[in-house]
Amino acid sequence: MPRQFFVGGNFKLNPTSRAQKQALVKVLNDADLDLNTEIVISPPSIYLIPLKEIVRKEIKVAAQNCYYKDNGAFTGEISAGQLADAGIPYVILGHSERRTLFHETSEEVAQKTKAAVAAGLSVILCVGETLQERESGATTKVVSEQLDAVVKAIKEEDWAKVVIAYEPVWAIGTGKVATSAQAQETHLAIREYLTKAVSPKVAEDTRIIYGGSVNAGNCKELSLQPDVDGFLVGGASLKPEFVDIINAKKVKAKV
Ligand code: 13P
Repeated sequence: MPRQFFVGGNFKLNPTSRAQKQALVKVLNDADLDLNTEIVISPPSIYLIPLKEIVRKEIKVAAQNCYYKDNGAFTGEISAGQLADAGIPYVILGHSERRTLFHETSEEVAQKTKAAVAAGLSVILCVGETLQERESGATTKVVSEQLDAVVKAIKEEDWAKVVIAYEPVWAIGTGKVATSAQAQETHLAIREYLTKAVSPKVAEDTRIIYGGSVNAGNCKELSLQPDVDGFLVGGASLKPEFVDIINAKKVKAKV
């Protein structure tokens, strides 16, 4: 089966009001969307449930983080089980902002991934190298090490619940997008890594999406790469052009 194209919108710590959140949803609810693409949007946790209640049913909702413990004295955390109980199907884990600003290690990300799949959630698992790592030729090594921790923590069948987001740190929020050749090269390296570390089937079936300054202007070319199975979009997911990114694979009807 071909891999279903996937477009996620990571709202990060946006928008700043419930009214703006409703306006973002209205744009998506009114848009002509390519429903062959899996569409997931990820608002701040306070908006997860109200957003899920007003967004059209073809659009899924993702949390931006969860904790690996089920419950207990962990102030400020939300568990994977609580997300599942609230009907939230996806969670983003290991985003570079969480790794750098909140010091999450690959082992913690792996524990969270394990807890999320055990709770029945699907995971958008983020990996990516810094500019210094890319320039020193360490990109494949860095993303392989980030994935190694998860490979050790979950079972082969759990990979059916994982989408890998390759997000080079130097491309996030910088306006500096990876070229389609750079994205393809790393996506292929991730697929080759999965073949060896997990299995050829998991490598073939797992969606590997690209994130980092994706916009309406660059999404088409990136989407043509054979190992680019979609996008995780930050800044542009808050703008009307997000509709064009969702529709990157849409075949125009002949007139
Ligand atoms: P930008 O699209 O704003 O570069 O952010 C990408 C990202 O971090 C998505 O998770």
